[in-house]
Amino acid sequence: MDTLAQPLISKTQAYEKQARFQNDVLSGLQQYPKRLSSVYFYDERGSQIFEQICDLEEYYLTRKETEILKRSARTIIGGMPDNTHLIELGSGSSTKTRILLEAALGQFELTRYSPIDISAEMLAKSAKALTKRFPRLQVEALAGRYEAGLAHFLKQDDTPNCIMWLGSSIGNLTRQEATSFLSEIHQNIDPRDSLLLGIDLRKDADILEPAYDDAAGVTAAFNLNLLVRINTELSGQFQLDQFHHQAVYNDKEGRIEMYLVSDRDQEVCIRDLDTSITFKKNEKILTEYSYKYSRSELETLTELSGFQLTKQWLDDQGWFSLNFLKPKDSVV
Ligand code: AVI
Repeated sequence: MDTLAQPLISKTQAYEKQARFQNDVLSGLQQYPKRLSSVYFYDERGSQIFEQICDLEEYYLTRKETEILKRSARTIIGGMPDNTHLIELGSGSSTKTRILLEAALGQFELTRYSPIDISAEMLAKSAKALTKRFPRLQVEALAGRYEAGLAHFLKQDDTPNCIMWLGSSIGNLTRQEATSFLSEIHQNIDPRDSLLLGIDLRKDADILEPAYDDAAGVTAAFNLNLLVRINTELSGQFQLDQFHHQAVYNDKEGRIEMYLVSDRDQEVCIRDLDTSITFKKNEKILTEYSYKYSRSELETLTELSGFQLTKQWLDDQGWFSLNFLKPKDSVV
């Protein structure tokens, strides 16, 4: 079947997206401490840099998750009802998902795959490559926000669904936001539906910090790309060599905190926002949290959001987890 991709962002949506970016940049840089949301990392260049991060030696997350998928894809798919509709959040290039899709194609009579991603370009490219690689796969891609994508796909028919959210992207939400997001999903699914979540686990700072501050400076470029975006999209005048990337592990909170740090006292004009932002030397902009979970934090998350953790797979070193969740009231 041909790809039915719907990455068509209308002019109104594009305008709203830009207006949201402007508002968020303005309010984020006017508050103290300053912050910029990590959702803005993923413009075209940012998405490309993120793909490079996934190949880094220090960034173990992708490697470990791939190891688990390679070893357990058939068991994972085997635990789902026949012909389960696979819906993926934040699919990106769908590289890891191919392992699951291959297993599904070997097991289901019909395999439907619906990726949802904010990046229309990436989505169209990967949907095309997937249909070429797997001609029997039915792909319907949707570019946009997760909530809208899920609302579209979940109510289509009564086929069981599995919502896959890989790569520990849930870690970029606070624990409370993660609980609310999963609760919202719980309210919109049926007892036969399930969730497959890739979640990074708590570990020592000497493994975590290099994963977010690699020797080649790829993560630094990823972080600084936020300032590049402000410069190009909002006529900002950030001098990139006057800020540096920082990643620290906060063990108490169980999260990596990423910052852009000002190297001197400076004032930066952002012309399209009619404003100048003042920075003290060493003042930080918080750009990302990446939460790590312990087994008990994972159980609390699933419990509080109405799910039960029915199966968990780990890599050999126990650094990363894949988690299969069913609604608590599930009959299957
Ligand atoms: C997308 N997300 C799961 C990544 C993470 O590990 O938190 C984003 C990232 N930030 C820096 N490196 C990767």
